[in-house]
Amino acid sequence: MASPDIRPAGGKLGILTPGLGAVATTFMAGVESIRRGHSKPIGSLTQMATIRLGKRTDNRSPLIKDFVPLAALDDIVFGAWDPIPDDAYTAAKKAGVLEERDLEPVKEFLQAIKPMPAVFDNHYVTRLHGDNVKKGKTKRDLAEQLRQDMRDFKAKNKCDRLVIVWCASTEIFIKPGPQHATIAQFEKAMENNDEAISPAMLYAWAAIMEGIPYCNGAPNLAVDTLALQQLANDKGVPISGKDFKTGQTWMKTVIAPGLKARMLGLAGWYSTNILGNRDGEVLDDPASFKTKEESKLSVLHTILQPEQYPDLYKDFAHVVRINYYPPRGDNKEGWDNIDIVGWMGYPMQIKINFLCRDSILAAPIVLDLALFSDFAHRAGMKGIQEWLSFYYKSPMAAPGLQPEHDLFIQQTKLKNTLRHLMGEEQITHLGLEYYQQ
Ligand SMILES: NC(=O)c1ccc[n+]([C@@H]2O[C@H](COP(=O)([O-])OP(=O)(O)OC[C@H]3O[C@@H](n4cnc5c(N)ncnc54)[C@H](O)[C@@H]3O)[C@@H](O)[C@H]2O)c1
Repeated sequence: MASPDIRPAGGKLGILTPGLGAVATTFMAGVESIRRGHSKPIGSLTQMATIRLGKRTDNRSPLIKDFVPLAALDDIVFGAWDPIPDDAYTAAKKAGVLEERDLEPVKEFLQAIKPMPAVFDNHYVTRLHGDNVKKGKTKRDLAEQLRQDMRDFKAKNKCDRLVIVWCASTEIFIKPGPQHATIAQFEKAMENNDEAISPAMLYAWAAIMEGIPYCNGAPNLAVDTLALQQLANDKGVPISGKDFKTGQTWMKTVIAPGLKARMLGLAGWYSTNILGNRDGEVLDDPASFKTKEESKLSVLHTILQPEQYPDLYKDFAHVVRINYYPPRGDNKEGWDNIDIVGWMGYPMQIKINFLCRDSILAAPIVLDLALFSDFAHRAGMKGIQEWLSFYYKSPMAAPGLQPEHDLFIQQTKLKNTLRHLMGEEQITHLGLEYYQQ
């Protein structure tokens, strides 16, 4: 039973993605394939996970989607922007993630998804070229055109609501400056075509102005600016980010809490990857890689808290490399060498060789973020959605608050937020009541 304060998920939900590349097309093709009964939504909490309610002895563990009023997969429609004019079928073929046998049955469906002209500028993503790009005198003009796209898409597809998940390339590293500090300064900077305002920020601003929840799947600066956070609060819009937590970083957020839980030390963590998709090519540019590196490096430090545990974690070495290696396509290979320290200072090593598929791991995250953000909006939540940290490498948190990186704390926070919003009791795992005579 939904809480009376939550608007029901009636009508269609439009999911729009800036970027129609490997992640976005794998997500869209997968949802359609699931709708037709050809695939299972593996990797998606909204579709497959259960949630325990009440005491262990109550035996109440419904599926999350039966407990929380989420939009149904059948009610989703897709749209995208991309500077490359390929439709979703052509883009998926080029991305090379899904095999013919999975793409062919949904070919016509994907061909009908054609990207709207993007707000794109080579200054922020240097390795890409495309002509499907909007023109405008100022960045504000461009952002207004995006707002019009959102309104047009909603009307044309008869959507009740929209949600936007950034699945476009990683932009160059930008430090937050005065242009990002207040809404007035941000808007002035848009009008002055200030370099500090990137396309990703324009999509985010446009979405929030239209009252559309916004999720940032890449590590570049966007909704994690004070100006846009304020705007999201003022407009009552949920925002979250940033950088989907898929392969190596997901592993880090599993292993590092385990080391810390056992009070084992860390001397160093060396991570390297080979990756041959377009994302890998974009990240081959040092400016885009710097954005990614910052996002990947913060994780261990926050989990291990060297300031609090100097004997275990002071000065551990942490190196992350991504090497563009075309033969691998989307099938990334990552190696981690972890030098750990045990009783009396004895060294040990853990090696992880992860042969993963980036977009296969990212697609269910896009779905969950879209459905949960839409739900949060209907439940009256606004601003930073910390409970969605589970899905991000660099989770956003209120200013002055350490973000939570530990996957298991993030999972507990996510489920407890759902319980809270649905008027169920929080689960503390204390469990003493089972032993009281
Ligand atoms: N796959 C993963 O596991 C994973 C994990 C974390 C983050 N990400 C991030 O997700 C994003 C998408 O990854 P991908 O593998 O699909 O990359 P991709 O290169 O296949 O697709 C990105 C698409 O975005 C388009 N694009 C670039 N700038 C744009 C703009 N301003 N507006 C609209 N479209 C634009 C590109 O033309 C391209 O088609 C990347 O930023 C990546 O770093 C992916």
